[in-house]
Amino acid sequence: MKLELKIKAIENGTVIDHITANKSPHILKILGLPDGKVRNVTVAMNVSSRETGRKDIVKIENREIDHEELDQIALIAPHATINIIRDYEVVKKDKIILPNVITAIIKCTNNKCITNYENEPITSKFNVIETEPPVVRCHYCEKLIKKEDIEKQFE
Ligand code: CTP
Ligand code: ZN
Repeated sequence: MKLELKIKAIENGTVIDHITANKSPHILKILGLPDGKVRNVTVAMNVSSRETGRKDIVKIENREIDHEELDQIALIAPHATINIIRDYEVVKKDKIILPNVITAIIKCTNNKCITNYENEPITSKFNVIETEPPVVRCHYCEKLIKKEDIEKQFE
């Protein structure tokens, strides 16, 4: 007999599924969880998945995810799906999409970049060069920022 661990279905909230294996701690960091208010957060790490071998899942009761959070999640888990649950049913399922341009959500790693000036810093802006693994280029100083440096910012 195959032993399988079933994770409880949620009544209302968001399920982030197909997260790159072992990246759920980054996703929780992005979402600011646990925050003492959101009650039930379930995390499954490194579980088997039909398509990709292994994945993580994050289930959050009574919490939605905003656009900025979605862009950040896309940088960490490009295959994630966002499932909106109402009364135990999946009412909406979206594949996550990394936009061509991202603003503000990460920092340029070049200390001398105009976006890192101490006085009058300006909002960071990056062009997405590759999505998998993610590579972005600073719009202002053209510094390339690779997966590892992006992920470090969410640790
Ligand atoms: N889910 C949940 N609570 C519910 C309904 C669904 O936690 N009341 C979770 C499921 O466990 C799954 C995800 O939400 O991790 C998506 O559910 P569903 O679309 O039913 O699963 P699949 O068809 O396997 O999804 P996909 O095709 O995206 O892999
Ligand atoms: Zn820069």
